[in-house]
Amino acid sequence: MDRRSVLKYSFSSLAATALLGSGIREQLLDKATHTAAILTENANDESYWQLVKNQFDFEKGLYYFNNASLGPCPKLVVDSTNQFRALLDGFPSKYMWGGWQKEKEEVRTKVANMFSCDKEEIALIHNTTEGMNIMAFSMDLNPGDEVILGNHEHPSGTVPWQHWQEKKGIKLVRPVLPILPESKEEIVEVYRKAITPRTKVISMVHGTNTNGMILPVKEISQMAHERGILVGVDAAQTAGTFKIDLHDLECDFYAASAHKFLFAPKGMGIFYAKQESQKYLKPLIVSRAHYTDESIRRLENYNTRNYPELLGLGTAVDYYNLIGAEKREARMRDLKHYFRSALESNKKFKFKTPAAKELSCAIQNVEVVGRKVGEVKNELFDKFKIDCRPMSGYRINGLRISLSVFTTKSDVDYLVNALHKI
Ligand SMILES: Cc1ncc(COP(=O)(O)O)c(C=O)c1O
Repeated sequence: MDRRSVLKYSFSSLAATALLGSGIREQLLDKATHTAAILTENANDESYWQLVKNQFDFEKGLYYFNNASLGPCPKLVVDSTNQFRALLDGFPSKYMWGGWQKEKEEVRTKVANMFSCDKEEIALIHNTTEGMNIMAFSMDLNPGDEVILGNHEHPSGTVPWQHWQEKKGIKLVRPVLPILPESKEEIVEVYRKAITPRTKVISMVHGTNTNGMILPVKEISQMAHERGILVGVDAAQTAGTFKIDLHDLECDFYAASAHKFLFAPKGMGIFYAKQESQKYLKPLIVSRAHYTDESIRRLENYNTRNYPELLGLGTAVDYYNLIGAEKREARMRDLKHYFRSALESNKKFKFKTPAAKELSCAIQNVEVVGRKVGEVKNELFDKFKIDCRPMSGYRINGLRISLSVFTTKSDVDYLVNALHKI
């Protein structure tokens, strides 16, 4: 077999075995991972990334630079989710009520391995919004207590605090972040200044959805913990981009949407809570008797739930591992560099995302100077079928461009060319 068909075989053999018992499945996964590794010795080989792109079934002619809004599933994940759905519909009561317990726990383990934490620290939820609600709902705060929320938080990171806590008379402190910081310390300093003796929680986004800026969660967690402050993180825009070791990050809670850069089926999310911080958490939803379970599973006590998507998340993690965390991260950093260097020296464009390695990765925001971003976004779509997200707030007026593993360098060339024409 030539290298193209070998890789295709590897991916499809994974899809075909997604439902088999774990032993057989792991063996085939090993083989596929090994094959992929041999094929990708040269990380700069563009033909490999074209093969990756071929695993996604985008609408004809579409250039998708909007992964930060919502990710696509590769065919492997689509196929396996559909097969799980067919099984469920063949015998609904069997699979919904206990038939997939072992498989569910396997998904939990895979997710925990991906984020270098313990499976007893992972709950399988629906999205980041739910995770942020769990955090805000859980805290026993008193009038006058303070929660710090930077000004770039997504509504899913602010509204839960307003809804569950503000009416108790707590204070939401909203420090303003720089758009183009030059170092992590600059951001840490903003948070340091916002802390007072009344601060109880820092709820912070890991990667901003506005300009893709990465915030230094580890440094802020260390500073917070020295003062007895809890740290909850919104990871909607970072999970699946660069390698994340949750113990190393040191935060207490971490909520992510698996349907963005991790390519899981829509409606799957991940919630992490450090062992020693789990005592603070209360379930948002309670149903069956085992809601009194003290393990992290008490946060996912939904009764009837979306099992095909949950098990499809397991396949999405297989897919993530097939390419490999390091290779994915290196690719996104390479694309970032490729995209930025095509425009950076041209005065008609202004990047609204910090350039430093530790301050951004897969999301880059660029302004077409002198043009309203909403108009530029529409023109890009109408004339070039390029989808991306306009960001007009925060004095940004820029296009949010998401780079992903399905983005090829020729896609970036197409985008750059379109931007020049505009
Ligand atoms: C930073 C951030 N947080 C939370 C969310 C909400 O994600 P979901 O709808 O998957 O809960 C988004 C969605 O774009 C986001 O960008």
